[in-house]
Amino acid sequence: MKRVAICLLLGGLIVWGGGIGAVGSTESMGSLKLGAQLYDNWLKMTGKTVEGNHPAYPAEAKKSGSSTWRCKECHGWDYIGKDGRYASGSHYTGIKGLYDVRTRSGQDLQQAIAATGTLHDFTEYLTLEEIVSLVRFINEGLIDISVALNADGTARGDAEAGKQLYAANCADCHGADGNAIDFKGDKDGVQGVGYLAVDNPQESLHKIRWGHPGSDMPSLIADVGLDDAAAINILSYSQTLP
Ligand code: HEC
Ligand code: HEC
Repeated sequence: MKRVAICLLLGGLIVWGGGIGAVGSTESMGSLKLGAQLYDNWLKMTGKTVEGNHPAYPAEAKKSGSSTWRCKECHGWDYIGKDGRYASGSHYTGIKGLYDVRTRSGQDLQQAIAATGTLHDFTEYLTLEEIVSLVRFINEGLIDISVALNADGTARGDAEAGKQLYAANCADCHGADGNAIDFKGDKDGVQGVGYLAVDNPQESLHKIRWGHPGSDMPSLIADVGLDDAAAINILSYSQTLP
């Protein structure tokens, strides 16, 4: 009996213990990627619909509708909410980020997302598996944005090394110049990898590390098996593209 209990306990620890640095199983990498993409846009990932603004979205903030329900809209692409990119501008909400809670227990974080009876209760929209994936992403998938970016938004990687990585991992889809896919068809000119890397390096880094929801773009970490340093090098090179 006792032995079974210990095995279960250890099993539980292993499930929560596999960081990016550890040898992650395919299954745990899949869950991490799912969590990261749900953080990006869980509405697109689940096909669920919502009405009006998220109840916790401040009335005085500038966005409206389904975008106000995305985790990134309140907590930021850089995971530091009001202390980062969203400190001002049209995405300002005054809401804190999640980077400082990444070391909290999985159970604790799960409770914050499935906070029944509060404004922050996502249980109506997300399955337990999805919530657990989000928790995994918060525990294991966040990056210290100051390691990746300088205060002016320039990436702190090696663009020369990034050039090779870009050619091997991105150019087939985005073209050698980064402009084979136009991200914002409604604007003049092509807004490709180079444009977004400069305009929104925080978002670009999240997409490079985790892929783009609803597309076949791979996650550099979960699918390709490369690390954050490689992602930052690619971002540095991307910032040199037209
Ligand atoms: C409309 C804005 C909004 C959205 C969307 C949102 N949150 Fe939050 N979240 C908040 C606010 C406000 C808090 C409370 C922050 C505080 O304690 O000051 C919070 C707190 C949290 C906490 C606990 C943090 C802490 O410091 O205790 C976690 C974890 C969290 N959110 C995860 C998520 C995830 C995952 C999603 C997407 C499924 C999400 N949030 C979507 C506004 C939002
Ligand atoms: C298999 C094809 C494929 C590969 C490989 C790929 N992407 Fe993508 N990428 C896409 C598609 C498709 C989209 C979605 C474009 C859209 O719908 O706007 C996308 C989206 C993006 C976005 C976000 C655009 C937005 O609107 O938010 C960025 C940034 C990006 N890719 C950069 C990269 C980089 C850098 C690499 C290499 C590490 C890469 N991609 C590899 C296909 C790919």
